[in-house]
Amino acid sequence: MSGDISQSQEWAALDKHHEELAGRRLRELFAEDPGRAGRMAVTAGDLYLDYSKHRATEETVGLLVALAERAGLSGRIAAMFGGEHINVSEDRAVLHVALRLPEDAELVVDGQDVVRDVHAVLAKMSAFAGRVRSKEWKGATGRPIETVVNIGIGGSDLGPAMAYEALRDYADAGIAARFVSNIDPADITGNLAGLDPATTLFVVSSKTFTTLETLTNARVARSWLVGALGEEAVSQHFVAVSTNAEKVAEFGIDTDNMFGFWDWVGGRYSYDGAIGLSLMIAIGPERFREMLAGFHTIDEHFRTAPFEANMPVLMGLLGIWYTDFFGVETRAVLPYSQRLHRFPAYLQQLTMESNGKSVRADGSPVTVDTGEIFWGEPGTNGQHAFYQLLHQGTRLVPADFIGFAEPFDDREGMHDQLTANLLAQTSALAFGKTAEEIAAEGTAPEIVPHKVMPGNRPTSTILAPKLTPGTLGQLVALYEHIVFVEGVIWGVDSFDQWGVELGKKMALDVAPALTSEEPPDTFPDPSTEQLVRRYRELRG
Ligand code: F6P
Repeated sequence: MSGDISQSQEWAALDKHHEELAGRRLRELFAEDPGRAGRMAVTAGDLYLDYSKHRATEETVGLLVALAERAGLSGRIAAMFGGEHINVSEDRAVLHVALRLPEDAELVVDGQDVVRDVHAVLAKMSAFAGRVRSKEWKGATGRPIETVVNIGIGGSDLGPAMAYEALRDYADAGIAARFVSNIDPADITGNLAGLDPATTLFVVSSKTFTTLETLTNARVARSWLVGALGEEAVSQHFVAVSTNAEKVAEFGIDTDNMFGFWDWVGGRYSYDGAIGLSLMIAIGPERFREMLAGFHTIDEHFRTAPFEANMPVLMGLLGIWYTDFFGVETRAVLPYSQRLHRFPAYLQQLTMESNGKSVRADGSPVTVDTGEIFWGEPGTNGQHAFYQLLHQGTRLVPADFIGFAEPFDDREGMHDQLTANLLAQTSALAFGKTAEEIAAEGTAPEIVPHKVMPGNRPTSTILAPKLTPGTLGQLVALYEHIVFVEGVIWGVDSFDQWGVELGKKMALDVAPALTSEEPPDTFPDPSTEQLVRRYRELRG
């Protein structure tokens, strides 16, 4: 729908429904209809979603689906998969789904055979990863590579870093990966510590190859390497991933050792393409392809499943339900898997850079809240830190709990303990404990109010058999499409990120003020001027 979705009949119907449902408790909803647990569940690939612990009924789902239809979600999904320029502010197609199309698929976009291009890059990555893993690729002194250091930031870091951590049990070639992103010198210094230049390979990852942090870190890495092995070592220790061959060559990296992608892959949607090179070297091309197959399974589910049984659609619509009808601001993502400890950070870019927008795709202001704030930590660490607020605080924080049936390895039944915690938390959040129940346990009356667990706190539970390359791909694709669904309802362009530009430009303007002999006489504002003066004094 073009225009203001909040003026639609479907929105009004949800508003009215919210008034009726907001005062209802999950205890009552389950007591009235115990069968809801069985019905409010859906499977997609290996992922099982229980959404029965949401403050929603099947009527809610029906009304939300009607809203999605009013927003033209089916048409938007077809437009994305068909390669239309749905990134309107940059006039680009949005085709991360093409990065995982099987080789025999067909998709021609803007006159270009996208599938052939994708598989040509995958083949080049696989060949290179194979050579590094088999030790055929040697460093300048003839020794094989032991560590790959990915230098990138944002989408050129968070994806491979998250996935490497998630899949490190599958890193079977004895090659470790490290990730450098921050312009803070502590990052590169810490990551170079203990490395031997002779066995280190740098993958400089940047879609634009103009990003200050990445190019600065890459220059530091280059000096470190050249200092130890000489200028001629660069070609054996530096490769690049980028869309910008000219800049790669300018930096001094042989473009034969460059792995490309295209402007129709957004940075935050790119680690299943060439940006995943460091991951592919660690886990191997076969595992990488299993991950792509996982992504594709969910793409197909998203493209074809009816909305009522479509996992990303349901989860995206529930996000709308809480954001725009309950006035909720944040969503916690709580993986019960230590290996997924970078998953919330990865999702923060995916979701917040995509949907943190105040104007619609046509430039008109939005009239409803957009952009959920994502945050989280792996369970059970979070339980001993911030869950207090989730259970008894005044704010409503819907949460996604993610668990796996089988661990990579187990010790003393720890994995079952982990899962028991996940299940106990979602139950406690939903059903709480009443004052009567607490008093009946013999608690002193003055202490009872402190112990009351209000409950009625909504959660999704996602269960998968095991954290594998395939299930990780499924999980990431699930959240990519949740973002898409929300973006369509809000009518925003989920694929640009103009909001990050001003700060980058201003940092370039401010930098000389910090380092020049004499402080300049113009400053952006009096507060910044004062801080610049203070910084210069402290820096001496
Ligand atoms: O500043 C934000 C951003 O443009 C992200 O969208 C992107 O993932 C990141 O910077 C890195 O960009 P690049 O891959 O071009 O270095």
